[in-house]
Amino acid sequence: MIGIRYVVMAIAALMPQAFAQSCGNINPVNAPTFGPGYSGRVVMNGLRMPRGMIFDNQGNILTTEQGGYGVRYIQLNDYGGTNVCVRSNKQLISDYSINHGIALTPDGKTLFVSSLTSVWSWDYDGATGTVSNRKTVIQNMQNGGFHPTRTLLVPKAQPDVLLVQRGSADNIDTAASQIGTARSQIRVFKISEIQAGVKDYASGEVLAWGLRNSVGFGEHPNGGIWSVDNGVDDMRRENRDIHHTNPCEELNYHGKINVTNSPERGAHYGYPECAAVWDPSVLPNPSQFKVGQPIVIGNPSGQTTDALCASRQAPKLCFPSHTAPLDIKFNANGSAAYIPFHGSWNKSPPDGFRLSRVAFNPATGMPTESSTSTNAAQNIMYNANINSCPNRCFRPVNVAFGPNGQLFMTSDTTNEIWVIGGTT
Ligand SMILES: *[C@@H]1O[C@H](CO)[C@@H](O)[C@H](O)[C@H]1NC(C)=O
Ligand SMILES: *[C@@H]1O[C@H](CO)[C@@H](O)[C@H](O)[C@H]1NC(C)=O
Repeated sequence: MIGIRYVVMAIAALMPQAFAQSCGNINPVNAPTFGPGYSGRVVMNGLRMPRGMIFDNQGNILTTEQGGYGVRYIQLNDYGGTNVCVRSNKQLISDYSINHGIALTPDGKTLFVSSLTSVWSWDYDGATGTVSNRKTVIQNMQNGGFHPTRTLLVPKAQPDVLLVQRGSADNIDTAASQIGTARSQIRVFKISEIQAGVKDYASGEVLAWGLRNSVGFGEHPNGGIWSVDNGVDDMRRENRDIHHTNPCEELNYHGKINVTNSPERGAHYGYPECAAVWDPSVLPNPSQFKVGQPIVIGNPSGQTTDALCASRQAPKLCFPSHTAPLDIKFNANGSAAYIPFHGSWNKSPPDGFRLSRVAFNPATGMPTESSTSTNAAQNIMYNANINSCPNRCFRPVNVAFGPNGQLFMTSDTTNEIWVIGGTT
């Protein structure tokens, strides 16, 4: 008895030390406001425009730095909750053209990174933080510099393919109405084929087209692929300026990646002819329109009619105009999606500059709100004084769940990585 008691006491004596481990505080550039039940801390600052962010299979962060020209490898100390800090970090890849996209195969062994023009792959070792065997795998994605990011995803439900997004080459890129331009699309590539020899972007299978600039996309745990689209600027309708509150920013569904005959596979989502309504009240004949309804941008004419727009894929949900969603990540059971809204320039007062939660039904894999809802996105982290944005406001770009369930977020104006609590 005495022996056991002694051992228990000895362990207890060690415990306060183990539990006392904590991270030093890093002051944010500007303190954000959190929704009820949420909290957050800066994990790392002083980055150079962190954009894309993923976790490797060892729990390390990999982030692309648009102003730092490469990929950074960040090892963490995780003491639970938001008590997370950096153990070590180093530049993993140095290349001035890397600007956003980053993806890892689910086995953690192959890393993909993109630039305006290209996607490269490397063999990756997360334990040592090293890459080798660089290959150019996709090429010819230049857009004259407009919409330069090329978001990447290797879906867990089909880990032998890479999804690559390419936006439009103008605000209204009329040529993107031709599928052969390979702009405003998401294409699918077999990883074994692109690794055998570089492929042109235009040779990939079309997962979706008519997406103006869907910088963010993600995978529901059921294999469903979802993207968030950035709608047109300066929208007019029948000679009326409606851009301040139109069109909406779209949440679009592309079917399950492992179901190749889904009705969404290869479908057209409306751009450059059509965009979805956010605010019907400023349209001519407002009673004819509802939130989320795809309509002609500008003046209907010839074959470019609202009926044509109705025949295209409509968004599953709408978000306020110009809020610029840049990513979407689901929680483990598929009951919520987290969407960072980078924030507007085509609107005054500004809007966006926040991280939001959208509720999903895990059983159906669909949003719980209807497509006409105007409050599907609940703020969980935001800038209290949005009129001061973008200066000093956090400006979220990517989110990623870490191995212990916390949500992490990059902010490219404040050069921070945040950890957010309450987001399970
Ligand atoms: C597709 O992937 C999901 C998620 O891994 C899985 O639950 C589902 O059974 C798969 N469906 C098919 C047809 O393979
Ligand atoms: C999904 O997970 C969240 C967080 O862990 C939990 O609150 C919620 O009840 C779960 N939903 C279902 C349907 O399991």
